Amino acid sequence: MKRISVKTGRPYDMVIGTGILSDAADYIQEVTGPCRAALICDSNVAGLYAGTVSEALTDAGFDVTLIEFPAGEENKNLESYCAIMEQLARAALSRSDIIIALGGGVTGDMAGFAAATYLRGIRYIQMPTTYLAAVDSSVGGKTAVDLGKGKNLCGAFWQPSLVLCDISTFRTLSPSEMLDGSAESYKTAMIADEELAPYVKKIMSALMETGGEITGEMTDTLELVVERSVQVKRTIVEHDERDTGERQLLNFGHTFGHSIEKLSEYAIPHGQAVARGMVCEARAAYKLGYTEYDAADQIRSDLADMNFDLEIPYDAEKILKVAKGDKKVRTGSITVVFPESPGKCALRTIPLDDLQQYIEAGLSQQ
Ligand code: NAD
Ligand code: GLY
Repeated sequence: MKRISVKTGRPYDMVIGTGILSDAADYIQEVTGPCRAALICDSNVAGLYAGTVSEALTDAGFDVTLIEFPAGEENKNLESYCAIMEQLARAALSRSDIIIALGGGVTGDMAGFAAATYLRGIRYIQMPTTYLAAVDSSVGGKTAVDLGKGKNLCGAFWQPSLVLCDISTFRTLSPSEMLDGSAESYKTAMIADEELAPYVKKIMSALMETGGEITGEMTDTLELVVERSVQVKRTIVEHDERDTGERQLLNFGHTFGHSIEKLSEYAIPHGQAVARGMVCEARAAYKLGYTEYDAADQIRSDLADMNFDLEIPYDAEKILKVAKGDKKVRTGSITVVFPESPGKCALRTIPLDDLQQYIEAGLSQQ
């Protein structure tokens, strides 16, 4: 079992272990004694893990209400959010009660936004059950839902009170969902921890050998990747909780990635869209002379080795249109991320008028 402290304005811990789901109440009682708890999960996770968590909490004296919403990024929207808010009110949750987000990044982002806004903000706990949520979205307090115009356009910064990650829940993830987590942890390696990349790759090659089954041996490596990824993110978020500077490094791959994800109507999932984005953004930066470090080929080859499909079925015009609506856009400019040297990324703010050239360079062949 590992514990990482995140010293944001409101500090909290992330606990990482294997087989700790049924001990959830013990950890949650570090934050609050028995109270009302709204356990929010999507329709897939409800049938897999809500029973174990609910039973553990009920046995410990919590009064648990299960709130379920339909799985999928296309449901990370205002409609699902409103339905959750109404159910929180019907369950009579008060300011001394708690929300628990049990699931992937969609659940964590949406339940976190519900927690940020219900009664002007109540405490919540992240229990990530996807690899992606474990290595990235459960930590840092970015909460949001998507709007018709783009991803995460309606949200708030609201830190959880605890993050509780049981690696054994990854055993029911599909190979595609494991790829999504690999993309974000590989991103972390590119930003700030070069030595993390071989472990990320090791997991995917082991999965290819086992036909997608997560074996006991892989669990240690998974724990290590989650721990190191979160250590990097923790440090960045501690320096820049509100995303005005250094935190934007975590957006490597996301200018292209969010547009690709949206254009596919979420058929290309977040992590796999970000993977494509990292190749394009590394290529654009090199071609446009932001850096002398040409990382695109290495990134492409690493991702291909992990079995990523890197095809982008959209032209520059389409990507540009969506990218202009991204929340990273400021009046007249956008900040892009690029690999500066192995394991190190940097930021560059470019005029919005240069975005077309940037996207064209990213999509061009070598
Ligand atoms: P997701 O939450 O949709 O989960 C992917 C799929 O896995 C869903 O169908 C879900 O039902 C299923 N699932 C979850 N846990 C499972 C388990 N243990 N076994 C079997 N199935 C399981 O998507 P995701 O990839 O976890 O997260 C993507 C989202 O995270 C995007 O909305 C993205 O914008 C967001 N995100 C947020 C941040 C942040 O800092 N807040 C960072 C990165 C990504
Ligand atoms: N995933 C981007 C961030 O947390 O800032």
